[in-house]
Amino acid sequence: MPLARAALADRALAPLAADLARLVGARLMPEEIAEVLRMTVDPSTLKELASGIRLRGRRNLEVPAAREPLERLLTSSSAAVREAAGAVAGLLKRVSGEELNEAVRTATDGSRPAEERARFIRLLGSGEFLAVAPTLAGLLDPNQEEPVQQAALAALDAHADPGVVRILADRWRHMTPGVRTRAVQVLLARKDRLAPLLEALRGGSIPAASLDGPQRQQLLNFPDPAITKPAAAVFGVTTPDPKRLERFRGALELAGEPARGEPVFRKLCLSCHRVGKEGVDVGPPLTTVTHQTKEQLLQSIVEPNLSVLPTYVQYVVEAADGRILNGVIVSDGGAGVTLRRQGGEDVTVLRRDIRALASSQASAMPEDLLKGVEPQAVADLLEFLKRIR
Ligand code: HEC
Repeated sequence: MPLARAALADRALAPLAADLARLVGARLMPEEIAEVLRMTVDPSTLKELASGIRLRGRRNLEVPAAREPLERLLTSSSAAVREAAGAVAGLLKRVSGEELNEAVRTATDGSRPAEERARFIRLLGSGEFLAVAPTLAGLLDPNQEEPVQQAALAALDAHADPGVVRILADRWRHMTPGVRTRAVQVLLARKDRLAPLLEALRGGSIPAASLDGPQRQQLLNFPDPAITKPAAAVFGVTTPDPKRLERFRGALELAGEPARGEPVFRKLCLSCHRVGKEGVDVGPPLTTVTHQTKEQLLQSIVEPNLSVLPTYVQYVVEAADGRILNGVIVSDGGAGVTLRRQGGEDVTVLRRDIRALASSQASAMPEDLLKGVEPQAVADLLEFLKRIR
């Protein structure tokens, strides 16, 4: 079908492609259906394909050649494409029991390359949830390479069962930052995940600080009070405590002298924040916060736990040789996990040597840094911070 191919490949012919896809769906020819799935990434074309198949009242249509292109579409970065591909997938025959067993075997075979395993893991996005959930949960483990964990998340994301949230909440403390970033997206990707997510946030198995501002807003502004009410309760707890700030309020009224603030910074902050060529990157470079008001800066210093950037969450790793290592994770590559300890020293633990890995719920930045510091010295420090280049 050369004309069909041209229509599917050319954006300008998109309306024609959608009509064609509907026609292809209604013809129920497996090869044609697979061809459309291979050619398109357009959600409306996919939806028309699904409604064509549905028109003929068919379910469980067997289209083996559709598996690979569908798998690609189901893990697309676009939610609209994933949803439309899901509509098609729902009409085709699911992976057979035998294929699923084979997929589980390869998915969990640590002797195979991560990329190959990832392909099979994504197939587990289409099995019965209860049958594949233990395998997928088991793959969310710091001993597994990141691509393997990412594939497990993609497979979980393809399931509509709210049990997905429980798995992610259980594994949360043991996820490295890159895995967490994707896990939050999965948690926020379906409405039926939001209520159990809020429960996990309330119970503390997922710390509220793990969600950034826009992600919190997504929950706080959701068009359903069943979501916004618990969200307000959860994130209300993470609004600033006026008493903590109040103790230093006086410093905001004093004029500061940046030259006197520098030694204060050296003493209290340089062990974690870099300025120019000095200091270490345990915390973020502070050049990005110089535009903030002194009050906002003071807030970040006295209440570091209000929001913790995911890349700066503290982890504890127990290594196979019995060592306990603390720090932020600066790399999560194939070979292992690299922790940067306070003071800036990097240590890599080989993946197979990770006996346990867990995050602490708190920021690496201590809350009581300014304890005993005179208000004038705090004012000087704030003035110094505003001038960091
Ligand atoms: C033990 C290490 C450590 C020390 C000491 C420390 N910080 Fe931090 N700081 C961090 C980490 C880690 C973060 C990022 C995690 C977070 O947001 O809590 C951070 C975050 C910040 C932020 C927010 C940055 C942003 O992009 O939002 C500011 C401001 C800050 N620190 C200022 C200071 C100042 C001023 C001092 C000295 C008085 C100080 N820090 C001492 C580790 C430290």
